Amino acid sequence: MFPQRRMRRIRRRIIQPLLRETELRKTDLVMPVFVDESISTPLPIPSMPGQFRHPVDGAADYCQRLWDAGIRAVILFGVPAKKDSEATEAYAADGVVQRAVRIIKERLGQMAVATDVCACEYTDHGHCGIVGETADGPDLQNDPSLALMARIAVSHAESGADIVAPSCMLDGMVQAIRGALDAAGYQDVLVMSYSSKFASALYGPFRDAADSGFSFGDRTTYQINPGNAREAVMESELDAAEGADILMVKPAGIYLDVLASVTEFGLPVAAYQVSGEYAMIKAAGERGWLDERAVALESLTAIKRAGADLVITYFAEEAARWLDEEQ
Ligand code: PBG
Ligand code: ZN
Repeated sequence: MFPQRRMRRIRRRIIQPLLRETELRKTDLVMPVFVDESISTPLPIPSMPGQFRHPVDGAADYCQRLWDAGIRAVILFGVPAKKDSEATEAYAADGVVQRAVRIIKERLGQMAVATDVCACEYTDHGHCGIVGETADGPDLQNDPSLALMARIAVSHAESGADIVAPSCMLDGMVQAIRGALDAAGYQDVLVMSYSSKFASALYGPFRDAADSGFSFGDRTTYQINPGNAREAVMESELDAAEGADILMVKPAGIYLDVLASVTEFGLPVAAYQVSGEYAMIKAAGERGWLDERAVALESLTAIKRAGADLVITYFAEEAARWLDEEQ
């Protein structure tokens, strides 16, 4: 009789495809795109092999290439030519992201275009909004930054963004943005909130890519401590109540417990496989220590298995090609 239940029967080669629980699809993937106002040819990002900053007028060509690979959604990050203490370039009608969105939507109307709504790329101090005196000394001020986020989001919507994605981790940011979008007539623009965003060391390469490092302090008074799961789930619950259309957990791969919990609110959930997750897999692959393609696809499948509806990943373009080859 032993063993009574033979699990290996359901792993027979002929049975495997029938019983696959999780399938990664190209339409689940969102590619981050860095647009730099000060360059005229693509600029490689050293800590993210294979990734580039793109000039504004090259952004549509790059998106066309992604489209041809089967990618149907991008999220844009801007690198402005000038920064100031109030992030005025972040909401400028002719700002880097605003121009890029217009160009991309003109050329590729069917590409879903999301925009990162934050101030850290646009402030000279590198924090995610307005800085001033707080209970913790000089730091990101919550309420004075909300109007800034609303203004940035509306300017992105005016340029044609389909989704605005606030990443500043301010209390009340979703409500402020939803209210401003509705008041301006953009009730069809989605808010994808970076709702459960941890204060992670895995954002290191991104801060080179987007030139968004901070000049003092850290982000631990607004982003979540990596050990705090209940707090992270509560953050997403609050953003759901404020009207977020899509919740997000970030980083992805080492926060799958939080990702699984956040599905309970019934809203679509995004996971952001961040720059450091990408860099680790790339670096080990380059050294021949890991099979890059296999690990990348395994990581993306695991993120979907944990409950993500969509995955923001720097592997999106390559993964699309790998998935084609597997067909
Ligand atoms: C800006 C922002 C960051 C990331 C996305 N939006 C950096 C940060 O919070 O410091 C990280 C993305 C990545 O590491 O790939 N607030
Ligand atoms: Zn920021």
